[in-house]
Amino acid sequence: MGVDLQSLARIPRHVAIIMDGNGRWAQGRGLSRLEGHKEGAQSVRAVLRAGARAGVEYVTVYAFSTENWKRPPQEIDGLMKLLVSSLDAYEQELHDNRIRMRVMGQFDRLPLLVRKRLQKTIDATAGYADRTFIIALSYGARTEIAEAAQRIAEKARGGKLDPRKIDEQTIADHLYLPDVPDPELLIRTSGEMRLSNFLLWQLSYAEFYITDTYWPDFREEQFFQALEAFNRRDRRYGGVKP
Ligand code: FPP
Repeated sequence: MGVDLQSLARIPRHVAIIMDGNGRWAQGRGLSRLEGHKEGAQSVRAVLRAGARAGVEYVTVYAFSTENWKRPPQEIDGLMKLLVSSLDAYEQELHDNRIRMRVMGQFDRLPLLVRKRLQKTIDATAGYADRTFIIALSYGARTEIAEAAQRIAEKARGGKLDPRKIDEQTIADHLYLPDVPDPELLIRTSGEMRLSNFLLWQLSYAEFYITDTYWPDFREEQFFQALEAFNRRDRRYGGVKP
């Protein structure tokens, strides 16, 4: 029997996802890694729909890390082409559910064609205010924090900011998307227990949901199961129960 969404008392505002296991999914079927990524791209679409149905405001997916640039050039090229070809289907889904798309990461490092295609969807969906889909591309949390430190230092040097007043909020304000609330739930597929340099600052208080399911098999129902697990957690933020 499926998850009854109505029975869930709390829906996280922001869900972040580490999409892992495309390669192993493909290997288990005697397919190429790229076939795994293709199927994984379908899961992204399913999760967009599921998030909207459940009332999640922000969904962030880790599509390409700064470390992923070390993969073989054919795989990187395949992933970039897949991203471009997937965006047509995603755009449809974004319009249907009135979801805005944003990108976080080193945008300038992406191939020009990819940037142009992304920009088209970013512009086409910029008017939607209630839901947001964030795609982390050429993203690394340590780089994000280092870049924030650079911008803060520049302001301090220019006399626009008092170094003694730098606090947690100052750091948060200089990250890539300072207006986005921290994720309350992190999903990681394929059973690995690692953060892999994803949203290190923003995930400080997130609940982790790790499933053995490979990303290409993670669809609407699996997303709802993660929300159900989140509902069973007891969140205290370091405090005590009232
Ligand atoms: C991890 O699987 C997945 C990625 C590195 C890429 C994520 C991309 C998609 C889900 C496809 C959608 C594409 C875009 C760009 C939106 P893995 O290759 O690390 O799997 P493995 O650990 O089993 O080898």
